[in-house]
Amino acid sequence: MAMKKYVAALAALAVVATLAVWMRPQRPQPVPAGAEINIPPLNETEALGKIAFDAKCAACHGENGLGKDGAGPPLIHKIYEPSHHGDYAFQMAVTNGVQSHHWPFGNMPPVEGLTQGDVKNIVSYVRALQRANGIQ
Ligand code: HEC
Repeated sequence: MAMKKYVAALAALAVVATLAVWMRPQRPQPVPAGAEINIPPLNETEALGKIAFDAKCAACHGENGLGKDGAGPPLIHKIYEPSHHGDYAFQMAVTNGVQSHHWPFGNMPPVEGLTQGDVKNIVSYVRALQRANGIQ
């Protein structure tokens, strides 16, 4: 009898553990540094976006938006595809900052000194990189 209870408890534990693993929050890993990606030719808007991105975002989001160890996530990543993080998410991130929720890098502070137009250009640049790498 005692043995039966023990087995039942173990089985219950196994179910709970399986559910916990299955339902755990996704913590996608950054693209490894030096990862190869396709760099597309940039139109004028995208090229302006790259200049602003390199000045204001690359310190955390890395060169070509590939992320930077200990600083920030890659934006050339499936979770930032347009249907999940639309263009508005970029304006919001720059204006208000971002509470850490997808990654273990901490919060993103608001970024000063960019107009909405600048951010639009940045989005065009990031979308061009995403498209060239199958993220759309
Ligand atoms: C000081 C570091 C830092 C800088 C500078 C920075 N970011 Fe971020 N950003 C982060 C971190 C960290 C996250 C991830 C937060 C999380 O865990 O989801 C993030 C997330 C984002 C997101 C996702 C927002 C969301 O809704 O989940 C966007 C979009 C973004 N950044 C755009 C930008 C742009 C554009 C710039 C430059 C204008 C920029 N970031 C500059 C650190 C930074």
